[in-house]
Amino acid sequence: VEPTIYGASERAPRGDYARAGQVRPDYTCPQNYAAYTAQDHDTYRRLYERQAALIPGLACDEFIAALPALGAKERIPRFEDINARLYKATRWEIVAVPGLIPEVPFFTLLANRKFPVTDWLRTPEEFDYIVEPDVFHDLFGHVPLLFNPVYADHIQDYGRGALKAHRLGACEQLSRLYWYTIEFGLMRQTNGLRAGSGTHGNLRAYGAGILSSSGELQHAVRSEIPNRIALSPERTMRTRYKIDSYQQTYFVIDSFQQLFDLTAPDFTPLYERVKAQPELAADARLPEDVIVAV
Ligand code: PHE
Ligand code: FE
Repeated sequence: VEPTIYGASERAPRGDYARAGQVRPDYTCPQNYAAYTAQDHDTYRRLYERQAALIPGLACDEFIAALPALGAKERIPRFEDINARLYKATRWEIVAVPGLIPEVPFFTLLANRKFPVTDWLRTPEEFDYIVEPDVFHDLFGHVPLLFNPVYADHIQDYGRGALKAHRLGACEQLSRLYWYTIEFGLMRQTNGLRAGSGTHGNLRAYGAGILSSSGELQHAVRSEIPNRIALSPERTMRTRYKIDSYQQTYFVIDSFQQLFDLTAPDFTPLYERVKAQPELAADARLPEDVIVAV
């Protein structure tokens, strides 16, 4: 199995958190642009080229429309160049971070419409497999959809909701929703088709973990193997997930507006309900699951 971008990681996180005093109290840092080597730019160019060639028919239309806004594809873009366009589009900004950062600072940045992007890039040996998010995963996977107004508002709401979940001791529950939507979500795109027609070919990816992985993109959207279930926040929060293999279950939305609406209610009683129920295995099937056909 070709692993996805997150592997089981017992090792220390890989970013250089000390970085000569450059990391600020909110865990952001300057994008260390001078540190990128010619090989880094070449690796980025090859990753971008491979992934861009795969997305037609597999990524959602909103992603395909926004991808060119990332700018440079033959070298790692400067975050400030992306920000000039992104802030105008949705008032979001990307900020550099040295790697994985603690929950509260991460959620606080999202709540303030600042998306943390890891600034280092994988080595050529890690071309297909990387244990932590790097600049390619973060930029290619997450940033294009921040140009979409509904999605952009959803991520801010998620940040605020995650700060609340932290206070309620429900981060584990909410992080499963994040995993199965923002990282590994699928969308049944019905533009131009009759809603609910279930026709082959309208299933697309919007999750960043799928969109930045060459192997999982095909698997998630086309393979007969995984479960595909209409999104229910409660169901995702009960479901464990795999970090070192393709997902066994994907949850499917019909639109970003539907995702926004499903996550708008106060989750306080939901967290209580979820904590009172047994967890579900990553490949579980329940009688009430609404199965989505490929
Ligand atoms: N509505 C959720 C709550 O009240 C917060 C949330 C918003 C969670 C968006 C996820 C996404 O806790
Ligand atoms: Fe991610």
